[in-house]
Amino acid sequence: MPAPDADPAPSTGPLRAPVGTHDVLPPDSARWGALVAAFAGVVERAGYGLCQSPMFEDVGVFARVGSGTDVVSKEMYEFRDRGDRHLALRPEGTASVVRAFCEHRPVTPWKVWYASPVFRYERPQGGRYRQHHQLGVEAIGAADPDLDVEVIALCADFYRAIGLRQVDLVVNTLGTPAQRASYAAELAAWFAERLGDLDPADRERAATHPLRVLDSKRDATRALVAEAPRIADSLGADERAHFDRVLEGLASVGIEAQVDHQLVRGLDYYTHTLFEFRSPALDAAQDAIGGGGRFDGLVEAMGGPATPAVGFGTGIERVLLACDAEGVFDAPGSPVEVFVVDTADGTSARELTTELRRSGVGADRAYDGRSMKAQMRAADRAGAAIALIVGPDELAAGTVTLRPLRHAGPVEGSQRGEQTVVPRHGVVAVVQAQLAALAGGSGVSGAGGGGETQG
Ligand code: HAM
Repeated sequence: MPAPDADPAPSTGPLRAPVGTHDVLPPDSARWGALVAAFAGVVERAGYGLCQSPMFEDVGVFARVGSGTDVVSKEMYEFRDRGDRHLALRPEGTASVVRAFCEHRPVTPWKVWYASPVFRYERPQGGRYRQHHQLGVEAIGAADPDLDVEVIALCADFYRAIGLRQVDLVVNTLGTPAQRASYAAELAAWFAERLGDLDPADRERAATHPLRVLDSKRDATRALVAEAPRIADSLGADERAHFDRVLEGLASVGIEAQVDHQLVRGLDYYTHTLFEFRSPALDAAQDAIGGGGRFDGLVEAMGGPATPAVGFGTGIERVLLACDAEGVFDAPGSPVEVFVVDTADGTSARELTTELRRSGVGADRAYDGRSMKAQMRAADRAGAAIALIVGPDELAAGTVTLRPLRHAGPVEGSQRGEQTVVPRHGVVAVVQAQLAALAGGSGVSGAGGGGETQG
């Protein structure tokens, strides 16, 4: 008998992408590119540099994240390589960045961002994959609560920059590791006296990882948890002041946040502030579009000096699902502006596309001597604004017929939408002038996300 969550037996049919993974292909991939560029724009303006770390690490790197973290203890893709090294595909982004920090000891505060695939052996469903992709930042080396505010504000500003409007932010604090540990013990003892009221599936965890029971989605457990002691009541004055400064800071930069004392999140390394962004436009089971928090103990756990840190990760797939649900951040326009249609011998297409591209104009062409009709269809598919047509007559006369495919005129020297014949040697300059006129009239030229930018 296969295990209940086992995938179907390998098929003998055509090969497909593994269960829980997906291909990102044109034209959707252009939207991905635009999303990553929007993220880079927001975080690089705040002094974050790109951190590109390996997709796999020694398994010990992720072990430091903690045994109570499902993505490490239950969902990790682990393997031995041909040299018998015990490795794992990255189940989250923070541990790799911290490993890199410990290895290279950069000057602090070290502020980095990443765009990386993340691997988790979860049961796939809408918005949950075995390979998903995260955009994230980690800021290592400062305990200042204003850095928590900066990190949260960057995530909120990214969502705003791509046009998302329906985003809820919930925040909580877990205090210091010692406070967290004593709260966990208090909670475990409290649950132990009420095991019968817990959903049976949560009973074991109530003893081993009581904090994780707080974010159980099971009804019986939720009802009980509402009555449970709150971490806020076991914080010291410094931790309370840290959290108050975060809340005050968020308000002062115009970010609405709701405190949720039950928010714990699935990763063991969090201390002090933690937060989650949710999209009410998504299915409630997978509505977390981003999350993060402080992880002041992780650098030390990884063998480095005691170093405070804070960061977040946001899932590209979920963010794009939220964009779809809100009808924002369309695919960017095609970067191909001109399509060269050559019904002579293909030489003009070869030379003109090269000349146009070298002049900074997006240009494409057809191959294999296709018919005029097929080439015009390809020009439309490419999203070109102009077709440059060279047939035997044009070739003999040293001219090119320029046919606008999208209209925004009036364009000097041509009627709106009417084709003109121009000398071959001057065609690039004429094309550039027409594209500039089109861009001025309709924003046709150039790629860019359909999202709004912040005013
Ligand atoms: P996380 O909450 O596990 O945090 O993941 C961050 C985000 O990745 C989630 O909010 C969600 O949007 C997306 N995500 C997670 N799992 C999946 C999945 N199976 N399929 C699709 N999307 C998913 C972390 O990973 C922390 N490293 C974040 C962090 C950075 N904390 C501090 N610094």
